[in-house]
Amino acid sequence: MRIRGNDKITAYLDKSEALLDLHPQPADLTNTHRYDDLRLEIGCGRGAFLSQMAEANPNVYFFGVEKFVPIIARAAALAANKELSNAHFYKMDITNALTIFPEHAFSIIYLNFSDPWPKRRHEKHRLTHARFLAIYKKLLRPEGWVELKTDNEMLFDWSLHSLHHAGWEVLEQDRKLSGEAPIGRENEGRYKKTEYEARFRGLGQPIFFLQAKPPVN
Ligand SMILES: C[S@@+](CC[C@H](N)C(=O)[O-])C[C@H]1O[C@@H](n2cnc3c(N)ncnc32)[C@H](O)[C@@H]1O
Repeated sequence: MRIRGNDKITAYLDKSEALLDLHPQPADLTNTHRYDDLRLEIGCGRGAFLSQMAEANPNVYFFGVEKFVPIIARAAALAANKELSNAHFYKMDITNALTIFPEHAFSIIYLNFSDPWPKRRHEKHRLTHARFLAIYKKLLRPEGWVELKTDNEMLFDWSLHSLHHAGWEVLEQDRKLSGEAPIGRENEGRYKKTEYEARFRGLGQPIFFLQAKPPVN
């Protein structure tokens, strides 16, 4: 596919064609049955986290969703360069997730450094708003959960409130997530650094982390 005036993006798209859906149709998950579980990263950006996770966890299949073509083209090209066979990318807004993914497909949903939308009138765009939590609840398997990492304390506190209000159980929270994984836990998402995380850690900023699961009913 050619995007006029941007040869770099065209090259990323050409490289990653097999791993990327630009006009997603309902996902066909038949070739994922041999994997232990499926996980989803929402707002995967340029894909450093997803590629690291897919490399480190070859028995898990990872889906990345991202709104913008030039960004997701890089994410998919990175996975293609690494010859990953357990990663796939969808250019879409997560608002439409239930038209693409079946219910109860995912064991973990990752929200990494989501846009904070600081103005109050924009709260509904925050990816932990009740309208998104309702979608995640449907996408998650009964034993599944969401993991969130952010540098933004306001978004973190607001997300805790939104989760409690929607009846989710916060299983863990950490207001200064260590950058070093304990031995044996290196492959967990909380210890794999995203592009934004690398930047914020470089500035010495604390990273906030939480894990939460939806109510049963
Ligand atoms: C601040 S960036 C973080 C990127 C990456 N997760 C990281 O930590 O480096 C947030 C990303 O989420 C994407 N995004 C925001 N809202 C989204 C939505 N509703 N659906 C899909 N992607 C979204 C944005 O386009 C952006 O690339």
